[in-house]
Amino acid sequence: MLDKLWPQEAHLDDRGDLWLGGCSATKLAAEYGTPLYVFDEATLRGRARAYLAALKQHYAGPAQVAYAAKAYLCRALAQLWNEEGLDLDVVSGGELHVALAAGFPPERIHFHGNNKTAGELQEALAAGVGRIVVDNFHELALLADLVDPARDPRVAAEPLRIWLRVAPGIQAHTHAHIQTGHLDTKFGFTLTTGDAERAAVRAMRTPGLALVGLHCHIGSQIYETEELAAAAARLVDFAADLRDRYGFLLHELSPGGGWGVPMTPADPAAPIADYVAALAGALTAACRQRDLPLPRLILEPGRSLVAPAAVALYTVGSRKEIPGVRTYVAVDGGMADNIRPALYGAQYTALRIGRRETSSVKHEVSDVERRAASGQGGVAGEGCQTSDVEGEGEWERVTIAGKFCESGDVLIRDIALPRLEAGDLLAIPMAGAYTLAMASNYNLARRPAVVLVNQGEARLIQRRESYADLLARDLPLHDEVAGPPRPHARPAASAGRRFAKYQALGNDYIVLDPADWPEPPAAEQIRRLCDRRLGVGADGILWGPLPPTTADAAGRCFGVRLFNPDGSEFEKSGNGLRIFARYLWDRRLPAGPDFALQTPAGPVVAHVLDAGGDRIALDMGRLSFDGREIPLVGSPREVIEEPATVAGRALRITAVGIGNPHCVVFVDDPDADLADLARSLGPEMEHLPLYPNRTNVQFARVRGPHELEMAIWERGAGYTLASGTSSCAAAGAAIRTGRCVSPVTVHMPGGSLRVEVNAAWEARLIGAVAPVCTGEVAADLIAP
Ligand code: LLP
Repeated sequence: MLDKLWPQEAHLDDRGDLWLGGCSATKLAAEYGTPLYVFDEATLRGRARAYLAALKQHYAGPAQVAYAAKAYLCRALAQLWNEEGLDLDVVSGGELHVALAAGFPPERIHFHGNNKTAGELQEALAAGVGRIVVDNFHELALLADLVDPARDPRVAAEPLRIWLRVAPGIQAHTHAHIQTGHLDTKFGFTLTTGDAERAAVRAMRTPGLALVGLHCHIGSQIYETEELAAAAARLVDFAADLRDRYGFLLHELSPGGGWGVPMTPADPAAPIADYVAALAGALTAACRQRDLPLPRLILEPGRSLVAPAAVALYTVGSRKEIPGVRTYVAVDGGMADNIRPALYGAQYTALRIGRRETSSVKHEVSDVERRAASGQGGVAGEGCQTSDVEGEGEWERVTIAGKFCESGDVLIRDIALPRLEAGDLLAIPMAGAYTLAMASNYNLARRPAVVLVNQGEARLIQRRESYADLLARDLPLHDEVAGPPRPHARPAASAGRRFAKYQALGNDYIVLDPADWPEPPAAEQIRRLCDRRLGVGADGILWGPLPPTTADAAGRCFGVRLFNPDGSEFEKSGNGLRIFARYLWDRRLPAGPDFALQTPAGPVVAHVLDAGGDRIALDMGRLSFDGREIPLVGSPREVIEEPATVAGRALRITAVGIGNPHCVVFVDDPDADLADLARSLGPEMEHLPLYPNRTNVQFARVRGPHELEMAIWERGAGYTLASGTSSCAAAGAAIRTGRCVSPVTVHMPGGSLRVEVNAAWEARLIGAVAPVCTGEVAADLIAP
C-alpha cells in the first residue's frame, strides 16, 4: 500500500500510524525518542539475497557481493551481512575496527581508500584483511615496504593480495560530488595516461604483493546500467592488454557499487536484477571478445542495500510563516543526521504519521484522533498515495527545516503535507544510506538512536548519544567548574590516551606509547595505572618506542624505559622486554623478526620466533659468577654452593649476576615447598651481607637435565610468580654446578621459560607473550 520508497511490508493503519517490520512507528518514537532511524531487517536481508540471486542467475563465473560499509556501519549490521554471506568493503581504520569488533571475518574484508595511512595499512595487515585495494603510487610504495619478504618472513609464504583501483575515464550521470570514474578524479590510477599500466607492472614486480584483481567505481546513485557496464568492460580490456603485454592473469574484478535507489515517486524503481543482468552481460561479452576466462565478480553496493531499509522519524516543532514566500516547519533533526539534502541537493519525501505519543507534550485532539474519528486514513507526502489523503482537510506546501544553525539546514524543500502541528511525527523513507554514516555533532547534536525491526520486535542497535558522549574526548583546563553544585554522579571522561596490556608468564605490563604519552608518565600516574584495585593493574609500565640514542647497523633500534609499580625506574626485565618486543611486533614496527631494544642498561636483542609473535626470545647478556661483576662483598672470588645460615637453616648458595645480582639455592628434598621457602627466607636473604646492593633469591629443584622448578623472591618487590633474569640465573647456576645442561626449561608458578646458555655463558630467554587488552585511560585516573 505504500510505494517503492518504503521498506518491505511497511503500511499505514487506519489511524494513520506507520508500521515497519510489524512495529508501530508512533510507539517506537515514544519509546526511543526522535530523531530515530528504523531499519527493517527483512528489507536488508531481502536486498542482499536479491543481489546474490541475480548474480547466480546472470553471471556464469564465481561472484560475490561486498557491502560498502561507508553507506552505514554498526556492529549489528556487519553481523547481519556476515550471516547473509556478504563480504565487506571498508575505507578506514575506523570501519575496519568496527567490522572486526563485530567478529566479521577479516579475510572477507576489502580495504579501499585513496589515502590510507601507513598506520591503517599496518592495522589492515595485522588483522589479515582479504584484499587491499591499492589506489595510488604512494600506497604501492608503502605496501612494498611493509611486505618486503626479505625483512618479514611472514609474507614470503603468502604474498599480500591486492587489487588496483583504476579510473576508467567514464563520467557517471550523477551529482558531481559523487562521480569518481572520470579523468579529473582523486581516486585511482588513470587508465588513459598510462598510470594504471605502470602501477600494474610495478605491483606485479613487487615481491610480497600479488596483483589478483582490478577495481573501479565510477560514482554513486546511478540509474543507467550502460555506464556501469561500460566501466566493467573497460577493466576487462585493460586486463586483456596487461595479459598480452605482461602475462597478467585477471582473477577478480570489482566494478564497485553505485546502483541507485528512487528518492521520489518520480524516480525509476531501479530493480537490482536489472543492474546485475546488464553488468554481468557486458562483462561476459567483453571477456568473450578478449578471450579472457570469466573472473570472480565482486559487486560493492552500499546505498542500494541499505537506503530502502530505513525510515527516519522526526518530531515537528516550531513553524515560521512568511506570507507569500514560504512556510518553514522545523523538526528535531536535520543536517546533523542527514546532510545529503544540504550537500547534494538530495530529494526526500515525507509522510505525516500522527502524533508522538508522549506525556510531556500535551495537545488537544490530534489530527490522528480527528481522522480516526472521521474514519479517514493516513496521509502522504508529495506524490505519495494520494488516495490516502482524499478528503483530508487542510493541506499546505511547506519546507521541512532542521534545527541546526545554518540556513542550508533544510531536509525537504516545498512539499505538500497535511497541516503539521508541534508534536506531529514525520517519517522520511530511503534514509538508510549515507545519513547516519555522514552524521555529525554539529551544534553538539547527539547522534540519533537506531533500531532494527522485524516481525513485531524492535531491537536497539545504536543508542542515542548522551551528553557524556559529547564530553568523552574533551579535556578541560580545570577539573572543577564554577556554578551550581553538580549532580552527584559524574560521567567518566576518557583522557584519549591509549594503553596496551600484555602478559608474559606471570608478569603483566602496560605499554604506553609516546604517540599518546609524549611525556614519561609521572610516578603518581604509574602508581594509579598499576594499582590492581583502582587502575588497570600491572607489574610495571613500559614507555616506548622512543627514538634510540644509538641505532644498530640497520638503523633500527627501539628505545624503552621501564617503571616499577611504585613509580621508580629500573633497567632491565626479561619478561617486560619480551612484552615490549611483542608490542612492537603487533604494531609491525620492526623490519624483521630480530631487532634491538635499547634499555637504560644497554641494548638487548629480541627475536620473534613465530609469525604471530606468540613466542619471543630475548638475548639477556652474559651470566657471570665473578664476585667483582655481580658484585659481591669481600675478596674477588666465585661463590658456588657456599654454605650460609639463614634463619637458623643451613643452606648452600650460588651467586650469579646477569645485569642484576642473584642468589640461587638448590633444594634436593622432593617434598619441600619452594614457594614457602622463597616467602619465608627471601626477606632475610635479600639482605645477605655478601651482596652490597641486595639480591634476588631463587629456590630451585632439578627435575631433569633440562628442567628446573623454581620459586622467586625479588629484590624490592617480594614474592613473584615469574622472572626472566631469575630464570637465567637459576639455569646458569644449574649448568655451572653440573646439575643441568643447556637448554633448561624453568618452571615457575607463573609459567615456564626456556633458557639457552652458550659456551660464552650468554643467556637467551624464550617464552610465550600474549596481549591482554587495549583501552583508553579515564581522565580522572591520570589527572595530576
Ligand atoms: N565501492 C567504492 C569504492 C565506493 O567508493 C563506493 C561509494 C561504493 C562502493 C558504494 O557505492 P554505492 O553503492 O553506495 O553507491 N555520500 C554520497 C555517496 C558517496 C559514495 C562513495 N563511494 C551520498 O550520500 O550520496
